[in-house]
Amino acid sequence: MKSREIRQCFLDFFRERGHAIVSSSSLVSGDPSVLLTTAGMQQFKRYYTRELSAESDFGLLNVATVQKCFRTSDIDEVGDETHNTFFEMLGNFSFGGYFKREAIEYAYQFMTKEMNLRIDYVTCFEGDENISKDTEAEGIWKEIKEREGESFEIRFYGREDNFWGPTGKTGPCGPTTEIYVKGVEIWNVVFNEFYKTESSEYLPIEDKGGLKGIDTGMGLERLLIMKQGVNNIFETDLFKEMMSILPSVLILSQKRIICDHIRGAVFLISDGVRPSNKETGYVLRRLLRRIIFYTRDLDKNLLNSLIDIIYNIYHDFYEIEVGKAKEIITLEREKFEQTLSLGINELNKLEVIDAKKAFYLYESFGLPFEIIKEVSGNKADGLVLEEFEKLFEEHRDKSRLGVEKKFGGHGLILDTGEMKAGNQEELAKVLRLHTATHILQYALRKVLGNTVNQMGSDITPARARFDFSFERKLTDEEIILVEKYAKELIEKNLPVKYEKMKKSEAEKTGALRLFSNKYPEEVKVYYIGDSIETAYSKEFCGGPHVEQTSEIGKIIIKKQEAVGSGVRRIKIVVE
Ligand code: ALA
Repeated sequence: MKSREIRQCFLDFFRERGHAIVSSSSLVSGDPSVLLTTAGMQQFKRYYTRELSAESDFGLLNVATVQKCFRTSDIDEVGDETHNTFFEMLGNFSFGGYFKREAIEYAYQFMTKEMNLRIDYVTCFEGDENISKDTEAEGIWKEIKEREGESFEIRFYGREDNFWGPTGKTGPCGPTTEIYVKGVEIWNVVFNEFYKTESSEYLPIEDKGGLKGIDTGMGLERLLIMKQGVNNIFETDLFKEMMSILPSVLILSQKRIICDHIRGAVFLISDGVRPSNKETGYVLRRLLRRIIFYTRDLDKNLLNSLIDIIYNIYHDFYEIEVGKAKEIITLEREKFEQTLSLGINELNKLEVIDAKKAFYLYESFGLPFEIIKEVSGNKADGLVLEEFEKLFEEHRDKSRLGVEKKFGGHGLILDTGEMKAGNQEELAKVLRLHTATHILQYALRKVLGNTVNQMGSDITPARARFDFSFERKLTDEEIILVEKYAKELIEKNLPVKYEKMKKSEAEKTGALRLFSNKYPEEVKVYYIGDSIETAYSKEFCGGPHVEQTSEIGKIIIKKQEAVGSGVRRIKIVVE
């Protein structure tokens, strides 16, 4: 049986048994408590509480769907035999129409009679201090076993395994019974008899004005493994063709990740998601960048060919925005390729990669967590996703306003606080301006003496602002001289490099530092010159910079002003 026949068979089965067929809702959930749709019941939450009426919306109290779902919680597991990010969930639902008996009967009939699969065992809720053991479900299974001469076992488990929901903080939830085939959980049948409140109380759903309801979910991909007699999802008809066109330089897990991620990406794009640095856009960006990374040295048409296959497999059941998907993936590739090798270079220089370093690599070069983890090998043994995500959240909350104002909300490829860039062109510009500020400090000290010390800087692609300690306005002659010394250094075409060292050693080198800054125990000293001893300029600095001073071009001082007592500000541009 092909995937499309199974979908049809499922929907027909329930249509014949008094269910209205409802289309899948978008992956971008209308449910504010979750980012993406993770289960079939999400679009129906308010029918369980009867805030909405199934009868008036669907003409019946029971419905069935094939729902597009996306779970980010399993993203790290993709590449093995059973995990996907995107998947389809077959489900039947009832909002006060039927309850445990019918739900279990339907599941049993469909599984054994329509699918011809043998049930290994089923599980029921064992009960806990708040909710009693589900003897009702047990009794129904026992009757079925007797009637049909079945010998499968009925097992009991606790909350972890046999209680479902709610999605998000509040909502309908309840005990479940699960059906296992060949040792794999294949169908989850949820008896929605409770409602979890804001204060984490489980109320009978009737108290919320609802009626006991049914919510079931069966992963289409898992069912296909059973029906098609294959070993894993990537051998089913949904993936076989995609897998077959991937070149053999890719290892098996990479092939699987590419297939999973591109399918997920195409579905997200078709539901209107665009790559960005937050929420659903960030999920999409991670998928895309991982695929782009794996295929960076391969035929540029490969991804388009995969998208065409996805279209062929799914377009008669779902809207697939094939043109948009190709366009967005190409754009993302162009964007990412600009910083990818810079980022990998930087990564290779680091000795240990913890969450902070990983976040720096993401922030400055757009390297997603998965790629950092993979490329770093042992160096990133201590790197944990949760810590990385925490920094991500903190940073996002802090910088959201400022950045969005400046860059109209589009994603940044570099954001160190001191400088920001939204694309390759901007990145090149801010790197030149950044090294220019180091040269400016060198020249200012040469002209005005060593009391000059940097107080701060701010770099955008258009200009750099440099604040330093000095008492008075610079004369025209001094300005000309500063520009002249800067020019000489640039024309020497010196390398710009850094060394990492203990803060105390860095201080001994005479490297300049911002007085106001708190530096960590280990710092980087960027220097301009052939060696740190003979360098013209040495500063405590996180980078990044140009590689050679000639890349800067010409430094022009545009403006000078006072910013408080004893502090001057100079604005420069590079041409
Ligand atoms: N809502 C249940 C699940 O997702 C059926 O497993």
